[in-house]
Amino acid sequence: MMRCMALVCAAVGLVPVSPHMVAGAPGWQLRMQQQSSDTTYGCLICHAEKRRTFTIGIHSEHGIRCHNCHGGDPASFERGTAHGGRFLGDPDKLETVQLCSSCHADADQMRQYGLPAGQLAEFRTSRHGQLLLERSDQNAPTCTDCHDAHTILPPEDARSNVHPTNIPATCARCHDNAEMMDEYGIPINQFAQYRESEHGKGIFERANFAAPTCTSCHGSHAALPPGVTEIVNVCEKCHVLVGREFRRGPHDRATRDDALPGCLGCHSNHGTEGVPPDGIAALCTNCHEPDSRAQMVGVELQEGVIRSLQGLAASQQAIEEMAAAGHQVADERFRYQTALTSYREMAQVHHSLDMELLEDLGRQVRSDTELIRATAEAAAERRWERKLILLPVWFLTLSAVTFAWFKLRELEG
Ligand code: HEC
Ligand code: HEC
Ligand code: HEC
Ligand code: HEC
Ligand code: HEC
Ligand code: HEC
Ligand code: HEC
Ligand code: HEC
Ligand code: HEC
Repeated sequence: MMRCMALVCAAVGLVPVSPHMVAGAPGWQLRMQQQSSDTTYGCLICHAEKRRTFTIGIHSEHGIRCHNCHGGDPASFERGTAHGGRFLGDPDKLETVQLCSSCHADADQMRQYGLPAGQLAEFRTSRHGQLLLERSDQNAPTCTDCHDAHTILPPEDARSNVHPTNIPATCARCHDNAEMMDEYGIPINQFAQYRESEHGKGIFERANFAAPTCTSCHGSHAALPPGVTEIVNVCEKCHVLVGREFRRGPHDRATRDDALPGCLGCHSNHGTEGVPPDGIAALCTNCHEPDSRAQMVGVELQEGVIRSLQGLAASQQAIEEMAAAGHQVADERFRYQTALTSYREMAQVHHSLDMELLEDLGRQVRSDTELIRATAEAAAERRWERKLILLPVWFLTLSAVTFAWFKLRELEG
């Protein structure tokens, strides 16, 4: 009976079906205070196996118990009456959305925990929500496919399915499932590519939680693929300076003219990687004619990057040698950092193709690195001079020793 009611509600338009809500009780918080201990709580006597999985979760921590979601009579030890009244047995996907939303879509209730209450509203706009709520498509995820039903933990908890390191696997349970995705004709390579990308390595190998997981680009509850015109905005959220340069350049115009898929023209979405210095010119030939102006620009960029890298490497080596010879190198290290900053800025400015600014930055890298090398050479010359000054001292010492040795031989003889 309860299930029928729930389904009708679901079809009609998501009126909350949580038993306590249906009962019109003063609210679950009040009921919690009336709860009895484990030994008098019937649900846990018979469902002992659920005790462990449920008590790890955040709901249990907040005093929410079995009957707050499933209804029934927790004071009863007899199955018939325990499961009696307004009992929600094993909720299906639609009922689950409504059960969770009965609390989580209630802004008044959620405010005290500082939690947003927009999950259901966002879910409705997602491909997932549309499939589930409008077409009852059983492949689409419901709240518990991503959060689990009983061991629900906040995203910050490393054990949670929705912790950044676990999100890709949570999504991949369906998106790596060839049989399921075949129905929709979409690829199943997202996780495999992501794992090998700079973003995936950031999360999995370098524990760099500033790197994006699936939901940073798609949204969690509102998961959709970004449209072509939205991609730059998605990437720019984190790559602020690159985005600012990109918007000043010809490729932004090309993106708005629909001639280029924004950042994805040169960096893929799931297999995101940088461009190696010796691959820059080749990248441009993917889209530009070999003898076009654009291609000349590409060759110029590549030469600029390689020249700067060589300058940086040589000046770093010079600093190491100076340090090994006992010189103070604090100033040189500082100058090296300045050159490195200019070099990094060049990588951003490559996105606007502002050739004047690039020329300036290249010149700064050159002058800083050349200055370091000049200082190192001068220091090395001074070291030689010092060695030369010491030459007479060595000569005298050697003569004295030789003289003493001959004297000794004479005495012995
Ligand atoms: C006397 C023992 C007993 C008590 C008390 C009891 N249950 Fe059950 N419950 C069972 C058994 C046995 C099943 C398995 C029924 C089946 O497989 O059809 C079950 C099944 C369930 C299911 C799954 C329903 C389904 O349709 O598959 C839920 C949910 C549930 N119980 C919740 C509760 C809650 C909540 C309470 C406390 C209000 C409670 N139970 C109290 C014995 C009990
Ligand atoms: C926050 C809401 C919530 C609470 C609290 C909750 N459940 Fe559930 N439970 C669900 C949902 C949703 C399902 C549906 C299964 C799914 O989506 O995976 C479910 C399914 C079940 C099932 C049937 C499927 C299975 O996993 O065996 C049983 C039995 C059950 N719950 C027992 C309990 C018991 C006992 C407690 C208290 C320790 C409890 N539940 C607390 C939401 C809840
Ligand atoms: C009876 C009301 C109620 C129901 C039903 C309910 N929740 Fe909650 N939920 C809460 C409360 C209260 C918290 C604790 C808030 C806090 O401290 O962050 C919470 C916390 C959470 C959190 C952690 C949020 C965070 O960032 O701390 C998640 C995730 C969550 N619930 C998901 C669900 C899902 C999924 C369902 C359905 C299976 C569900 N909830 C059903 C009341 C409820
Ligand atoms: C496709 C997977 C997915 C589905 C389906 C899903 N969630 Fe989430 N949820 C997440 C992820 C991932 C997070 C972690 C925060 C983030 O990335 O935005 C999250 C976070 C939350 C939080 C913590 C507060 C917040 O908004 O960040 C709550 C509460 C929550 N979800 C409730 C729900 C409810 C209720 C439903 C069902 C209407 C639901 N979720 C459906 C993936 C999902
Ligand atoms: C329970 C299975 C399931 C889970 C878990 C799941 N998805 Fe989906 N997802 C689907 C199905 C089914 C579709 C529909 C495919 C379609 O229509 O192209 C879909 C569609 C999508 C789409 C739209 C694709 C398109 O081309 O329209 C995106 C984006 C997406 N999911 C991202 C995610 C992310 C991110 C996660 C994890 C937070 C996730 N999904 C978890 C089943 C799932
Ligand atoms: C949530 C923030 C975030 C979003 C969104 C994001 N990135 Fe990243 N990205 C990072 C971080 C952080 C790194 C560095 C990861 C590391 O090295 O640990 C990175 C690395 C990169 C790299 C490699 C840089 C290098 O030095 O090799 C490229 C290229 C890149 N992102 C492009 C993109 C593109 C294109 C998009 C949009 C489709 C995007 N990013 C979206 C944060 C983000
Ligand atoms: C750096 C941003 C970014 C990250 C991280 C990311 N995606 Fe995507 N994803 C996109 C963009 C952009 C598109 C749209 C591509 C297009 O229009 O060509 C897309 C498309 C999709 C699609 C539609 C089908 C397809 O492959 O084109 C699905 C499904 C999807 N992503 C799932 C995922 C999953 C699962 C993860 C995590 C393993 C993930 N995405 C991580 C940016 C991202
Ligand atoms: C994914 C395709 C693609 C790649 C890769 C690409 N471009 Fe472009 N580029 C375009 C499109 C489309 C336009 C706008 C139409 C046009 O003017 O050809 C454009 C325009 C330009 C322009 C302004 C118009 C012109 O011809 O003077 C320059 C300069 C340019 N690109 C340089 C480069 C350089 C340098 C690279 C390599 C680092 C590169 N592009 C890589 C697609 C691409
Ligand atoms: C026309 C090709 C092209 C497009 C389009 C493009 N990039 Fe790049 N991107 C490059 C090249 C080439 C490099 C390597 C520059 C270098 O090493 O100096 C690079 C490097 C990067 C880096 C590493 C920069 C660093 O600081 O080390 C990031 C991050 C990045 N791009 C993000 C983006 C984002 C975000 C977009 C969209 C707003 C975008 N790219 C669009 C060609 C492109």
